[in-house]
Amino acid sequence: MTERQHKAVHETEHEIHSRGDLASRQPVLEMNHVSKSYRARGMSLRLLNDVFHASSTGRRTDSLALHDVSLSLKAGECLAIIGESGSGKTTATRIMLGLLAPTAGSVLYQGKPAPMHSPAWNRLRHESSMIFQNPYSSLDPRWTVRQSLNEAVSLRFGRSLDPDSVEARSIQTLDTVGLDGRIMLDRYPIDLSGGQAQRVAIARAIIDEPEILLADEPMSAVDMTARVQILHTLQKIRALQGSSLSMMFVSHDIGMVQHIADRIVVLKHGRVVEQAPCDELLNHPQQPYTMELLKAASL
Ligand SMILES: Nc1ncnc2c1ncn2[C@@H]1O[C@H](COP(=O)(O)OP(=O)(O)OP(=O)(O)O)[C@@H](O)[C@H]1O
Ligand SMILES: [Mg+2]
Repeated sequence: MTERQHKAVHETEHEIHSRGDLASRQPVLEMNHVSKSYRARGMSLRLLNDVFHASSTGRRTDSLALHDVSLSLKAGECLAIIGESGSGKTTATRIMLGLLAPTAGSVLYQGKPAPMHSPAWNRLRHESSMIFQNPYSSLDPRWTVRQSLNEAVSLRFGRSLDPDSVEARSIQTLDTVGLDGRIMLDRYPIDLSGGQAQRVAIARAIIDEPEILLADEPMSAVDMTARVQILHTLQKIRALQGSSLSMMFVSHDIGMVQHIADRIVVLKHGRVVEQAPCDELLNHPQQPYTMELLKAASL
């Protein structure tokens, strides 16, 4: 990180964290005692019988990705979920956002149970957005940046916005993520660098003003300079949106999340090993596993 980038990241970090006490805020999204097991694909009937027999006799043969996990996301907070590969981060966040059904336990959105296809689930799906590790997976290669952004706006607002307002909104959102709309709007994903593509994907995710934004390893596919730009972009979005946007940030790297998260949850083998406010976890980690993650931190 250059000195200038370092200063920008730290200044915005300070601005976000000096906004007051999050402890008193209500959770917007909660996951209570959630477990998730995946069944192996293409299992034969005989194997299924064996699994059934094993579970009825107390032996486990299915793959349990989450064990009794409870998490909550408060209004305006950034919750980071960290852990090594396979620890259950993506599974946990997909269940939180209603993309995957839990095997046991429940999800509540704005205090209402949100099982799949319920009214609360419909609202949650409508009011949340995601950013993935690979930005090209959320951008259609046949569409220009303009078409990608326009589609996100029409999905949210229907035909209620005229074309000039949609264009103005696209340019303004690209400006928020640090890209020049006049240059970017007519480009195709193939004409963007990895960092630019990820910032367009972020613009697409925030253009419809979601209540909840999930970023699942948004920086792991790009180089360090682009990582810092993306981190700074996400910080800026938090600073602009205040308590109207709650964010979940998934990473295996505690070094990245420390600049944006209010609270950190550490997952290992599908269990929560530790969760605490960011500063507390960084300065007084309680678990050896958290200490190992701190030693491996990048920034
Ligand atoms: N569709 C699936 N079918 C079977 N097992 C799965 C499936 N998805 C995930 N798993 C298993 O569940 C466990 C948790 O996976 P998950 O993708 O949630 O981990 P992660 O922490 O996001 O990992 P990474 O950092 O590599 O993205 C892993 O053991 C994984 O192999
Ligand atoms: Mg994952």
